[in-house]
Amino acid sequence: MALQTASSPDGLEGVVAAHTVLSEVDGAAGRLIIRGRSLDDLAAGVPFEALVGLLFDGFFDDLPADLAPALGRARAEVFAEVAHLDPALAAHEPVVAVRALMARLADGDDLATALRLVAAPAVFTPAVVRAQAGKAPVAPDPALGHAADILRMLHGTPATKEAVAGLDTYLVTVSDHGLNASTFAARVVASTRAGLTSAALAGLGALKGPLHGGAPGPVIEMLDEIGAPENARAWIEAALARKERLMGFGHRIYRVRDPRADALKGPVRALAAAKGGGRVAFAEAVEQAALDILKAHKPDRPLDTNVEFYTALLLEALAFPPSAFTCVFAMGRVAGWMAHAREQLAGGRLIRPQSVYVGPLPLQAA
Ligand code: ACO
Repeated sequence: MALQTASSPDGLEGVVAAHTVLSEVDGAAGRLIIRGRSLDDLAAGVPFEALVGLLFDGFFDDLPADLAPALGRARAEVFAEVAHLDPALAAHEPVVAVRALMARLADGDDLATALRLVAAPAVFTPAVVRAQAGKAPVAPDPALGHAADILRMLHGTPATKEAVAGLDTYLVTVSDHGLNASTFAARVVASTRAGLTSAALAGLGALKGPLHGGAPGPVIEMLDEIGAPENARAWIEAALARKERLMGFGHRIYRVRDPRADALKGPVRALAAAKGGGRVAFAEAVEQAALDILKAHKPDRPLDTNVEFYTALLLEALAFPPSAFTCVFAMGRVAGWMAHAREQLAGGRLIRPQSVYVGPLPLQAA
């Protein structure tokens, strides 16, 4: 029997499923507000720890004014789990290994649990990447800033000021973004009172998909396959003719340029300048070709550059392997998942929508 296609609200587009004080995505204006402040303001110099404090404000009674020491201690605490990173686990793609290590953390709904979960992808990702390269993990240094410690745990040497600033800007930029798919997944699980670890695992599961947080790895593959600016048009046109989507373009909400792409452009250029800037110039040529072709391909649907295009270039410049890009996204977005989970717990009922049955009735099925 052919499966009847449901004509339900497609992808829940336009459906309001939560009221939040955390962030607003204004798709028409291309603006992102996080707790009353615009992303342009936050991305230019607010460290990730301060951003976590901003997101958590009002959702935990015992929130210290400066979260940096507590987050440093949380990194040191979760590092104990890295002992369970056996070769079989390390053979998986990084997001699967990180997800498995995160699943070892106890559930709970207090600040200590939330900070351990914020620390988890930051500590586990460098350990997994190093294990895959045959290198021993580097233990966290709780006295360092979060971004500086992540890069030190990844490379084994202190990071440059530009690299730390670039990663800090990235983590802040992706920390929260309205009711995106992974945040919605985290809120649904939080609404069942399963605990913050379960909510974070739901978020990570949703983030892993190529239509959400899995896009930046394929952006690098696309750039590598194109190879030179003069090949861009032919490559893109052939991909669209095969009905493929261009990774790093299009968004459910933004109908203009994704402001997060702009926030990342400065750090990308600063980091690329040290290497001559050729990679960024090439990527910008590919971006322009893609925008021109997408406009002609879908004149009625604005398809602009999204955050993932510049994420790919930034994380490549910071020497994260493309296979780990989704995990780096999780390092930032986990802060939003935790705040949304606590907001859901504070006031929300169990999330339990309805479906409309469009299958056969018992008489017809017999
Ligand atoms: N390349 C080519 N065509 C596209 C693209 C793209 N990147 N994005 C959308 N389209 C086309 C679709 O094929 C569709 O065409 P059709 O009507 O002929 O079938 C039309 O535009 C509308 O697309 P939808 O699927 O309705 O858009 P939706 O809002 O569901 O999807 C999404 C948004 C998933 C981001 C989409 O634009 C996409 O797949 N982009 C590529 C993946 C990507 O970059 N993801 C990261 C998003 S940012 C983030 O999650 C952090």
